[in-house]
Amino acid sequence: MSVTVPVELRRAFAELAQSARARLVVMTGAGISAESGIPTFRGKDGYWTIGSAEYHPQEMATHAMFAREPEAVWSWYLYRRGVCRAAEPNVGHDAVVEMERALGDRFCLITQNVDGLHLIAGNSQARTYEIHGNIDFVRCDVDCGRTPWRLDDDLGRGFVRGDSVGADVARLRCPGCGGWGRPHVLWFDEYYDEAHFRFDSSRRAAVAADVLLVVGTSGATNLPMQVGAIALQKGALIVDINPEPNPFSQMALAGGGSFLRGSGGDVLPELASLLRR
Ligand code: OAD
Repeated sequence: MSVTVPVELRRAFAELAQSARARLVVMTGAGISAESGIPTFRGKDGYWTIGSAEYHPQEMATHAMFAREPEAVWSWYLYRRGVCRAAEPNVGHDAVVEMERALGDRFCLITQNVDGLHLIAGNSQARTYEIHGNIDFVRCDVDCGRTPWRLDDDLGRGFVRGDSVGADVARLRCPGCGGWGRPHVLWFDEYYDEAHFRFDSSRRAAVAADVLLVVGTSGATNLPMQVGAIALQKGALIVDINPEPNPFSQMALAGGGSFLRGSGGDVLPELASLLRR
């Protein structure tokens, strides 16, 4: 699909490149990873759309379910981890890396994606806020003090939906206290915080943003909506890339920004090229 980048937006990105102070915040959702083959949540084949025989899929993303059925929840997350680790970053992810290289400390990435593809593509840990966690990591369920740790690389490889965790259960225990380790992700019955999910940092980034570039999210979660509302209120230029209208495209248009109706892979490389001095 060909998407025209309006002249005013080209100008705004050229100014971003020239400025010594202007800041870009990129905020991504599942749509940016769709072109890597990872299902979105609410699309036709989305994780929250296709149910399992026993559970409503969103129940899998709750601590209440983990407390009742830890192995079932782990089975679901190991399956999803297998999908993520079989995927590779796409040209959209690469373009976001190029943006960080061009702007350095004037760049910040807020991602809802737990797939880790932005980091694998080359964005820095320091400037990437994984506000819903990272599926490669585990933390102690009772928070015994052990910092989150990385799952063994092979866990989830080749898993199909509904596979049982089996003997791998021993590798999901907390090395600190021996209790359950849990996926290092944010669940529906939990709250954002700074320590795990960079809540305050994300809000601060929104306050300081001159341009907020939103890619591939439906606006269904709280912190991203706050980031959009703060940026709009502070007068940042909002740009939304998405094949479908959504709350961020409305914010963009309300504040004189742009809605680029297309996929991340269609538009991001061109925007990144505008930041090359
Ligand atoms: P959704 O599945 O809700 O929305 C995906 C968005 O991506 C939709 O607006 C699509 O139109 C858009 N999209 C699809 N393909 C695209 C493409 N190639 N390029 C650009 N956009 C595309 O996913 P999220 O908005 O990321 O949270 O969902 C937000 C959060 O809800 C997730 O992080 C997850 C979920 O519950 C937790 O698990 C805490």
